[in-house]
Amino acid sequence: MMIYLDNSASTIPEEEVLRTFAQANRTYYANPASLHQAGNKAEQLLESARKQIATLLGDSESTVIFTSGGTEANNLAIIGYAKSLKHRGNHIITTVIEHDSIRNACLHLKTEGFEIDFLSVNEAGEVSPEELKEKIRKDTILVSIMHVNNEIGTIQPIEACSKVIREHSRALFHSDCVQSLGKLELPYPEWVDAVTLSAHKIHGLKGTGCLLTKKFNEPEAISFGGGQERGIRSGTANAPGSAAFAKAIRLIIERKNISAYRRWNTRLRKAVEDENLVRICSPIEGAPHIFAVAFKGITGEVAVNYFQEQGIMVSTSSACSSKTNKVSPVIQAIRVPDDYRRGVIRISFGNMNTDQEIDTITRVIKEFIEIIKKGMKQHDME
Ligand SMILES: Cc1ncc(COP(=O)(O)O)c(C=O)c1O
Repeated sequence: MMIYLDNSASTIPEEEVLRTFAQANRTYYANPASLHQAGNKAEQLLESARKQIATLLGDSESTVIFTSGGTEANNLAIIGYAKSLKHRGNHIITTVIEHDSIRNACLHLKTEGFEIDFLSVNEAGEVSPEELKEKIRKDTILVSIMHVNNEIGTIQPIEACSKVIREHSRALFHSDCVQSLGKLELPYPEWVDAVTLSAHKIHGLKGTGCLLTKKFNEPEAISFGGGQERGIRSGTANAPGSAAFAKAIRLIIERKNISAYRRWNTRLRKAVEDENLVRICSPIEGAPHIFAVAFKGITGEVAVNYFQEQGIMVSTSSACSSKTNKVSPVIQAIRVPDDYRRGVIRISFGNMNTDQEIDTITRVIKEFIEIIKKGMKQHDME
């Protein structure tokens, strides 16, 4: 049996979620926009999922705009809010360590004449509210700062940033909470105006996610069609997928495994912290489910393959950058030294992992370090 430790890339769906999806597809197969009885039933299912998600995440008045996942919700937030707020200004602030779906949406807006400022981060991957204060302006319309970084697990000071934004501008504050849902308390609705969520990172299904926003704070549409989702996101609504997403959120809230994640994270940290060949990339106060380390003088691919041969699946710094062989902007931004930056792996926990599996990976990491040491000695003697 393989050990799956790549839960930040995607998780194993819960059986209950799969059952909900299959049952809903059998019973509520119609198009929710259809006027007949079956259409009405599908619409009821969709609306009940919407209400459940809003209520579970703390604010029954919120608008839930269902999307195909985190990427689409992030695009909708960045481009849709830029469009809906452009009468107030054209300045947007984000960070250098966002997911590509934020970064590239911002870079697209730059070509459309918007001005984008990227906040830098320190060696722990944190932005500084002081830098935000320096950069924020009266014509800043949108600030987007992720809650938890997907590659190293840094938790951003969202509350402090929110205070700066509220004090100095009328900008809308969006946060990509794909990696924090089910692991930390969400900053919504207290500190941010809109958050991005994705089901497949919480033992739900791929292809479902949402933008959760405050009422009267909705973005403009960025794709066009039949005007579903209040005209914001056209396309036949995925009622069974939305019901399965609501179920996944309910289960992750009930079953969250934070104390186990913390224990496992500490265990791995202790196992490698005294090794010169290893540099820990995840900050000590980071999110509990992510542990990223860099090995000196080897590539992440070599490490991932070694772990795979030992029956363990981990990833290089992020699944998205793993096939491009480039050093990710996050690893560059936290200033990992040159001889370590190509050797990053990310180990990420989910609710299906066990203490025994963590025993195994702890042993395998130590063996791997010994192999690198031997290889280096041999190299020195040659
Ligand atoms: C922080 C973050 N944002 C956005 C996404 C994109 O989500 P999805 O895979 O649902 O498009 C991911 C997934 O890799 C992520 O980790």
